[in-house]
Amino acid sequence: MNKKRLLSGLQPSGELTLGNYCGSIKQFLEYQKEYDSFLFIPDMHTITVPQKDSNLIAERTRKLAAIYLACGLDPDNCTFFIQSEVPAHNQLAWILECFTYMGELNRMTQFKDKSKKYKNIGCGLFTYPVLMAADILLYDTNVVPVGLDQKQHVELAREIAQRMNNKFGDIFVIPEPIIPTIGAKIKDLQYPTKKMSKSADDANGSIFLLDTEDEIRRKINRAVTDSDGKVWYDEENKPGIANLLTIYSVFENIPLKSAIERFEGCERYGDLKKAVADSIVNALKPMQEKYYDIIQTKLVDEVLDKGRERANKIASEKYDIVRKLVGFGR
Ligand code: TYM
Repeated sequence: MNKKRLLSGLQPSGELTLGNYCGSIKQFLEYQKEYDSFLFIPDMHTITVPQKDSNLIAERTRKLAAIYLACGLDPDNCTFFIQSEVPAHNQLAWILECFTYMGELNRMTQFKDKSKKYKNIGCGLFTYPVLMAADILLYDTNVVPVGLDQKQHVELAREIAQRMNNKFGDIFVIPEPIIPTIGAKIKDLQYPTKKMSKSADDANGSIFLLDTEDEIRRKINRAVTDSDGKVWYDEENKPGIANLLTIYSVFENIPLKSAIERFEGCERYGDLKKAVADSIVNALKPMQEKYYDIIQTKLVDEVLDKGRERANKIASEKYDIVRKLVGFGR
């Protein structure tokens, strides 16, 4: 029996963070065997906001592929590819743009947030969720594991797919987002009500997957908490501690409830911080060692070449069907 399809990706817009691991990579690891998994690198999304150095995009793309492999994603189960090497993504995006309403894109919270940060906003930032819909719909994707901030975009992809199916017949599979029960929105260590992000202004707020042990311990030690002095989980009133408990539960691979129980009665934030840092370091160290081996080899390019072939075949066939249905060509 054919496996169902999974597709997801991480933008090479900065160094990957702990948030990306918890919201996304951890889910890929869990589901990679169950699904025919397409894990791609959406590099075209990166230029929706100004980039200081465009050479960094290609470098980060390669690093990201090496991180996928070092985390244990298996090229025998997964197809890894780079979005800009599969032209059907932007070809389909154009068609989908013509079937997406301005009002829908205006409601995207990520657009609202990001457009406040920049002076001159490119149209790509506005239409980006449609390119993301194309990414998903080209592959008859059944499930899209993402963190909470991307749920609205996957829901838009569903809307667009349904609209196209109503007009042209059953072209697209309707994708389902999968959001992790814990770790769907890891917070910034310095501003624990905000999302941890690759592009945060203060690097102390984010732990990057390639940070050294010292950096990890230092950032966790400096994480903003509160003056209450008791470890317990209260997202609203103790966001810093709630975030640390969440990170601990993800990296220890235990339910949040068990993480909370482990620190019951603990009155020293230092103890919690040490346990969280130990847990992150233990999980990331083996991945980092593999990463530095893999990045030296040809494996990354071999895997991406193979992925490009498969992705192009599937995506171009789908695009061809849609292209004809909307009335193009002979
Ligand atoms: P991106 O690159 O911003 O983030 C990649 C994945 O990491 C998740 N994530 C988080 N999860 C928990 N806590 C956080 N602090 C955190 N920060 C990020 C994101 O939710 C995401 O799952 N538009 C997408 C990339 C994309 C894509 C796609 C994803 C393009 N096309 C098609 C799925 C399917 C993005 O910018 O993710």
